[in-house]
Amino acid sequence: MSACYLDETAIDLLVPAFYARVRADALLGPIFESAIDDWPHHLAKLKDFWSSVMLASGRYKGQPMPAHIRHERALSKEAFARWLAIWRETTDELLAPAVARAFQDKADRIAQSLQLGMQFYRER
Ligand code: HEM
Repeated sequence: MSACYLDETAIDLLVPAFYARVRADALLGPIFESAIDDWPHHLAKLKDFWSSVMLASGRYKGQPMPAHIRHERALSKEAFARWLAIWRETTDELLAPAVARAFQDKADRIAQSLQLGMQFYRER
């Protein structure tokens, strides 16, 4: 199954597929398993996040920066590169090319700003 449009259906397809791959990954799996107890809750939150980011639904009310700073020792450059590689792979497989590209561009920018925020936090 693949999604042709940038809509809630695409997000519902993408988010669980992405985290299934992340959990199976040797580098990222242990980081997520030690941080997340309630996977249905995490997946629902991340669907809200992507819905807010891509469709301006306003459903996500959280703050990604402190959530990552909490785990900053585990979030190496390599971990971010791996996260983005799995994101690219999953979006390319599940979404139409233009839709995949939009999700990839957005994730690249957010990953960059999370990394900058963490760098700033480390240097304080
Ligand atoms: C939350 C790991 C990159 C978006 C989390 C949490 C973990 C995590 C462990 C749960 C935090 C907690 O509740 O204690 C990672 C790792 C990454 C990564 C290992 C890459 C190395 C990203 C990127 C994005 C993102 C690139 C966005 C494009 C989010 C959001 C939350 C979250 C929205 C929920 C924050 C909240 O509680 O409101 N991440 N993350 N993450 N992550 Fe990431």
